Order: sequence, then structure tokens, then C-alpha cells
Amino acid sequence: MYTSKITGLGKYVPENTVTNADLSKIMDTSDAWIQERTGIKERRHIKKGDGNSTAIMGAKAAKIAIERAGIAKEDIELIVFATLSPDYFFPGCGVQVQDLLNLPTVPALDVRNQCSGFIYALSVADQYIKTGMYKNILVIGSENHSGGLDMTTRGRSVSVLFGDGAGAAILSRNTEEDNTGVLSTHLHSEGAFAKELALIGPSTSHWVDQIIVEEKNLKRDPKAPIDYYPYMNGQLVFKNAVARFSEVINEGLVANQLTAKDIDLLVPHQANLRIAQFIQKKFDLKDHQVFNNIQKYGNTTAASIPIALTEAFEEGYIKKGTIVVLAAFGSGFTWASAVIKW
Ligand code: UT7
Repeated sequence: MYTSKITGLGKYVPENTVTNADLSKIMDTSDAWIQERTGIKERRHIKKGDGNSTAIMGAKAAKIAIERAGIAKEDIELIVFATLSPDYFFPGCGVQVQDLLNLPTVPALDVRNQCSGFIYALSVADQYIKTGMYKNILVIGSENHSGGLDMTTRGRSVSVLFGDGAGAAILSRNTEEDNTGVLSTHLHSEGAFAKELALIGPSTSHWVDQIIVEEKNLKRDPKAPIDYYPYMNGQLVFKNAVARFSEVINEGLVANQLTAKDIDLLVPHQANLRIAQFIQKKFDLKDHQVFNNIQKYGNTTAASIPIALTEAFEEGYIKKGTIVVLAAFGSGFTWASAVIKW
């Protein structure tokens, strides 16, 4: 059986920086509230007319990853694209990337596992490489959150958290027999909590016209959440996140006969700095062993891990032999981990 390794990483974030102070001009929030509860200082938002979209940002990150992997784009045999904010209801962003990068007519697969999306996508790619089916796979996580957030006080508990951006990785067949590469991936879901962090409509169960009629009939409280904006039961998600993050990291360590002491770098999904700090304490990790950049980008869902991984690599945190643990939790609920020896 073959093994896989990450041979190239890339990221792209839109230029437009939106600070907490900027948000406090358009909704009732404050820099102090946002920083204290989440650690976020600013995030990037696509600006109308800047030419970006989920697929386009994904393609930009992919271009860098391909270049750094030292392969030709013709060497890519599969695209796996993770997002919760696709450009179209259908088709998915994967086929758009095939076109944008002018790739051969390779298969394109879209993954819909929100914050865990990148690890799910990585896991799929890893299995294709293990079986020998493909040698080079492009894995992308990209999100355009700003296009669908309620940027009023009614939506503040969600909209201050999220940012736009993309990250990409090339997963290749490992040609070295030195026990490096993706050592394991572990994936989970618990759909009983599907509505606790969700965007219900528009969808096949909730079309726009139906939502508009409901809005009119209910004469609802203008502060109440609306179905076509994301909803999150923040405290419930927080409680589950800290428990599941710990479980799934442990699961990965145990499967590889490792302990927390073997972790060189934990790259957690960037949902909340407080969650990352909780996990850091729980596993007794030093500051340099946990990579966080939520301060700059907010929560970019499927893009958060590949953006963070790219920056960790660029900043010299990852070298040959480094044990990197990726972990994520989010909507679904879904959660996942990956253990990688670089
Ligand atoms: O990526 C997917 C996974 N996501 C997560 O893991 C996120 C998990 N949850 C969280 O990180 C936290 O629950 C939040 C950061 C989202 C919220 O923090 P919290 O401490 O749970 O706050 P809360 O929702 O309980 O709200 C506390 C207060 C409320 O006011 P009252 O009812 O106490 O008067 C909110 O209305 O803060 C208010 N509030 C805000 N105030 C200023 C909510 N959002 C804001 C805001 N600015 N943006």
C-alpha cells in the first residue's frame, strides 16, 4: 500500500481588511467584545468588484500550491474542493477550478463538511493515494462568507466571527520509505445537532419564496434569526467543540502510538482563540506548538486549516520530521483529525 504526503501548500486571502472597529460602525458590537470572546482582531472580506469568489480564491491558492510542489498542473489527477459557500447551488466549485486552472478533464469532487471540510477532503485524497489510484491530488478549502452574512446587529453573534479566504495543498504519493506523510485521519459526525450551526435556506426544503411568505406571516421580531442567514447556538457549539477536539486528537495519537509529548505542532481549525487555548492547556503544549492566526482572518471554515498550515510552513514551524496534528470541529456536527509526519 502507498502512503501520501503534502508536497505543496498555498493560500490566498482578499486584500480588503475589515477590523472590529469597522464592524462596530455598522452593528452594535465592539472591539473589546470580539477580542475578549474570540481573539479576532480583523478578517478579510471580498470587496464587490475585486474579482474574487470561492472558486477563484481556491484556484489562486491552488496555483501557489502546485508551483511549490514542483509539479506541472497536468500532473494533477483529482480535485477535492471543500466549502460551505460555493459560488453556485450546483455545480460545485471543483469543476470551476478545473476550468480556471485549465486542467485536463480530471475528476472534481466537492466536500460539504464545513469546518471539518479540509480534513475530510484530505482524508478522501489520502485514500485515493493509498490505493494507488492517483499520484497527485489538489485539495482545496475556500470560503466566501461575507457574501452571505447578516451584517446588522441582528446577525452580530455570527457575522463578526467569519472571514473569507482559501488554502490549498497538493497531496502526492510518498516516494520515500521513511514513515513520513499522512499517518492517519479520523472523521466523525453527529447529525442530531445539524440545526445548531446551520444555514437552513434557501434549499430544497426551504425556497426563497417560502421564506419570504413566512417572514410576512410571522410578523416576526426583527431581532430574531432569519433562515437564509447562518445560525449558531454558540455556547452549545463551544461545549461540544472543546470535548470533540480533545477526543479526536487523542484518537489520532493513540492510533499512531504517540502521546501529546510527540506533537511538534497542532494546527487547530480557527474557530475561536479560546477553544485553541483550552486545547493547548489540556494537552500541555507550549505557545510555539499551537499555530493560531484567527486574529488576522477570523473563522474561514474549510479554509482555516490550509491557510494556517501554509503560514506555519512559511514561518518555519514545519520541517522534515515535524509531527503536525490537524484538528477540526464544526457544523454537522462534524469533527476530524489528521496526524502528519512531515
Ligand atoms: O467554526 C465552527 C465552530 N464554531 C465554534 O466553535 C464557535 C463556538 N462558540 C463560540 O465561540 C462562542 O459561543 C461565541 C464567540 C460565538 C459567543 O460567545 P459567548 O460567550 O458564548 O456569547 P453569547 O452568545 O452567550 O452572548 C453573550 C452576550 C449576549 O448578550 P446578553 O444576552 O448577555 O445581553 C449577546 O447578545 O453577548 C451578546 N453578543 C454580542 N455583543 C457584542 C453576541 N454577539 C455580540 C457581538 N458584539 N458581536
